[in-house]
Amino acid sequence: MLLLAAVERVIARPESSAFAQQTQKPRVPFRVPSVDELKDSTYRASALRGRAILLATRDSLRHNVGNSLRCASCHLDGGLRRDAMSWVGSFARFPQYRARSGTVDLIEDRINDCFRRSMNGRALAPAGRDMRDIVTYLAFLSSGTPVGAETEGQGLPRLQPLKGDPVRGATVFTTVCSRCHGANGQGTPLAPPTWGPHSFNVGAGMARINTAASFIHAVMPIDRALHLSAQQAFDVATYINTRPRPDFPAKARDWPRGGKPDDADYHVLPTTSQEKSR
Ligand code: HEC
Ligand code: HEC
Repeated sequence: MLLLAAVERVIARPESSAFAQQTQKPRVPFRVPSVDELKDSTYRASALRGRAILLATRDSLRHNVGNSLRCASCHLDGGLRRDAMSWVGSFARFPQYRARSGTVDLIEDRINDCFRRSMNGRALAPAGRDMRDIVTYLAFLSSGTPVGAETEGQGLPRLQPLKGDPVRGATVFTTVCSRCHGANGQGTPLAPPTWGPHSFNVGAGMARINTAASFIHAVMPIDRALHLSAQQAFDVATYINTRPRPDFPAKARDWPRGGKPDDADYHVLPTTSQEKSR
């Protein structure tokens, strides 16, 4: 028992990243496997149902989604676009130690993180049919990717952090974003909300300024990406992420072993009950 505790301490030290740096991870090109590659089978039916959930999350799983987003609202082109938080190759990188949870997360844990935070909703039963179908589709999107490999174009191209100005950001929002996201960030038929009661909650990755700025710089406006300067992206990200949005009380348990990033300050005002009833 003592020995086991000692081993755990060694492994959990700051960090497994030291270990990760020592291990050369294979890197593979970005390749989207086509569902046509799947023969007619129960596997294919499960993968296609999983894909349908990711594309129409709210309509598929009303009890688990607490806002107006779908998984593909942020994982663009249904998670198939490189440099836009693609799911191509994700499955192959799990299980994975994550500092936010302080544990080794399974892909199911990661998916439920986005359900609870990005979708401001409730976790799926890890062994239920919905989770199984989503995981089957994500596993299919990692076809041919070696376990643990990095995929080119994974995640987001990260910008160097800059200090954002919410006043300038409000101007960017009004002139560039509001035509799709609405004057008050409430969403329109063209695009989902960016703040308010129907948006992601304060515990979401997108509620962090650096993540939001990198995302916005890389892919927004959706019809004219890379149109904003890095400074404008930080300004508008700071504006969006200082507007009210739903709280996430379980945030108090995040980063239990330290390593909290600077932009995860959770300073955002939770949505008031008055706004909720609107
Ligand atoms: C509000 C935006 C947003 C929405 C909506 C969203 N996510 Fe995410 N998701 C993120 C962010 C941000 C990350 C972290 C990306 C990074 O750091 O590169 C992420 C990461 C992930 C990952 C890990 C990817 C990897 O390669 O490590 C998975 C899997 C995932 N999300 C699944 C989902 C699912 C399933 C849904 C719907 C239930 C969903 N996401 C909805 C923002 C979102
Ligand atoms: C031409 C319309 C359009 C414009 C202009 C636009 N967006 Fe978007 N945006 C979208 C669409 C559509 C999505 C969701 C994509 C999907 O569901 O496939 C989206 C998604 C997002 C998301 C993630 C989901 C969410 O709503 O939280 C953020 C954040 C975002 N946009 C921010 C911005 C910002 C900031 C600007 C201005 C710099 C901007 N967008 C301009 C259409 C637009």
